[in-house]
Amino acid sequence: MPNNLLAGKVGIISGALNEESIAWKVALKAHEEGARIVLTNAPLAMRMGEINKLAEQCNAPIIPADATSVEDLEKLFSGAQEQLGGKLDFVLHSIGMSPNIRKGKHYGELNYDWFQKTLDISALSFHKMLAVAEKQDAFNEWASVVALSYIAAQRAFLDYTDMSQAKAVLESIARSYGQRLGKQKKVRVNTVSQSPTKTTAGTGISGFDAFFEYANKMSPLGNAPAEACADYCISLFSDLTRYVTMQNLMHDGGFSTTGISEEIVEAITAVTKQSE
Ligand SMILES: NC(=O)c1ccc[n+]([C@@H]2O[C@H](COP(=O)([O-])OP(=O)(O)OC[C@H]3O[C@@H](n4cnc5c(N)ncnc54)[C@H](O)[C@@H]3O)[C@@H](O)[C@H]2O)c1
Repeated sequence: MPNNLLAGKVGIISGALNEESIAWKVALKAHEEGARIVLTNAPLAMRMGEINKLAEQCNAPIIPADATSVEDLEKLFSGAQEQLGGKLDFVLHSIGMSPNIRKGKHYGELNYDWFQKTLDISALSFHKMLAVAEKQDAFNEWASVVALSYIAAQRAFLDYTDMSQAKAVLESIARSYGQRLGKQKKVRVNTVSQSPTKTTAGTGISGFDAFFEYANKMSPLGNAPAEACADYCISLFSDLTRYVTMQNLMHDGGFSTTGISEEIVEAITAVTKQSE
């Protein structure tokens, strides 16, 4: 049930590709909670056209921007302030893509040009967004910026290949910019480390179904769904979390602090019995 948590606030939401996208759910909830938003995605993704449906539902303008292009981001941030009639209160970075994952390269045979693309799209784009926002003085005081991350930044998940490094960089950028923008303008910058989620980016990873099930069995609360991730982002955009900054916040049903679960023990015991 909406609580008007974002009444009077305005922001930018990136990365809504289709109804499965985490950003799609964040956009709907931000709208429900009283915010006015600008939607953005890469021009290529925009051609698929689905974002228009979301824009209609949220009554939101769309400004295309390739998040690796500073020029596009400058137009995005200035255009958004123009459309929304003032400085921004929140930004969601929900952008990730690895050409190495797309082409099925395993960790030992990564293509380094693609590795750099992965880093540029999935991590440096966050730095570029914040640098542009700072230069344009685009944030209101107490604004909140959230980027979506994954636990492969801290733990080895080999099938996540170069995205693991991208997420580690992303989380580090959140800390550095959190310090800088916090001091300058009381702006919060955090990353939310989300459970495996069945989206276009998620299911593109080899072995996704297995690690989705594994995480689900390991987490006492089960995997966090995309809707719940959206709720968490809304709470971080709201005034209820004003002193939370420079954090990587686990939104994973308890996965990251579980050693082993009964379900995993039972599954392994069943397999061992079968092979006896
Ligand atoms: N799905 C998961 O299991 C999972 C888990 C943890 C974190 N995340 C993160 O959540 C975020 C959103 O992913 P999602 O799962 O909703 O999948 P998604 O595929 O719906 O979203 C990824 C978005 O990135 C956009 N994008 C790619 N290249 C871009 C570029 N150059 N410029 C601008 N946008 C670009 C795509 O168009 C797409 O909208 C990503 O950062 C992802 O790594 C996902």
